[in-house]
Amino acid sequence: MAWRPVAAAPLSVVRIFSGIQPTGRKHLGNYIGAIAQYVSSQERGEGIFCIVDLHAITVAYDPAELRERLYDTTAILLAAGLDPSRCILFRQSDVHEHTELTWLLSSVTELGRLQRMHQFRDKELAQRELVSAGLLIYPVLQAADVLAYRAEEVPVGEDQREHLELMRDVARRFNSRFAGGEEVLVVPEHRIPPVGARIMDLQEPTRKMSTTGSSEQGTVYVLDEPKTIEKKIKSAVTDSGSEVRIAEDKPGITNLIEILAAVRGSERAAVEAEFAEARYGDFKGAVADAVVEYLSPVRERFQALRADEAGLERMLGQGAERAREIAAGTLSEVRERMGVGPPG
Ligand code: TYM
Repeated sequence: MAWRPVAAAPLSVVRIFSGIQPTGRKHLGNYIGAIAQYVSSQERGEGIFCIVDLHAITVAYDPAELRERLYDTTAILLAAGLDPSRCILFRQSDVHEHTELTWLLSSVTELGRLQRMHQFRDKELAQRELVSAGLLIYPVLQAADVLAYRAEEVPVGEDQREHLELMRDVARRFNSRFAGGEEVLVVPEHRIPPVGARIMDLQEPTRKMSTTGSSEQGTVYVLDEPKTIEKKIKSAVTDSGSEVRIAEDKPGITNLIEILAAVRGSERAAVEAEFAEARYGDFKGAVADAVVEYLSPVRERFQALRADEAGLERMLGQGAERAREIAAGTLSEVRERMGVGPPG
């Protein structure tokens, strides 16, 4: 019998999408909870990553600064290891399909649910001036980001869980209302890391580390100098007692255990066991060293990448072109199903 090559089974590649805001300075929580997962997802599937400038305009902001922050965030993602030859990296506002899909999906989004979203209520309370309609619609734009690419997985930190639930609901409602239950829009799964999904502020370990509302001393920024990182971690608020162990009444130590486990890629229990006999000071020293070692290569690569704005623009433009090709396909199907525009 003649030899015939065996046809390779079609490999189904998982499509992974996530978005990150170009606001403020990126911190250790963003890095551990999200950016590190983006980088590793390039090994597992087709990664699509979006810098969401349109989300950033829903609260008070400075237009000139938005551009600066966008380049900062782009350069941090590249320095962390996103590789445009292995993933798609682009700016949200370059792909108009996101905003069109937001409008189309708003017709299958429940208003009451948007009004009850935690992030809307928190920001609404914190907002001293205008509470924009954009702040309310924010989660629909986030749903459009993901659903436009029919992504299956969304790597995010714990604080995005509610947004993920909403987008799943929007996709299901669309499919049942306009596609007879067929999965025209893929219902995505979140991918929240088992360790490091909610890094807390070092000074107030019952609040999450965040760009807004956290203290400077309690937030480790990705671009902080080693000395600064060391100082922040060594002066982290710890709890009474002297044992290095995870406990509800020890949020400060628990947070540091979580951070060390995450940057080492190990388990919380392993860190606890290793430092069972250690004093707080020695333990903090070990956490500081590990975080410095973890972030230093990113800070070092960042400078050269950030200096080349024309290069960043070129790369984002190419990413947007590739993103648009995928999103345009979804949009034409959604328009067709909704009876919008001429028949296809
Ligand atoms: P953003 O820009 O606030 O945060 C980016 C990512 O960082 C994670 N994160 C944390 N993880 C662990 N500990 C923390 N303290 C911490 N703080 C932030 C967030 O969970 C997030 O994954 N709405 C989104 C951006 C977005 C998006 C999307 C995400 C827009 N479209 C589509 C996923 C898919 C946001 O504001 O993330």
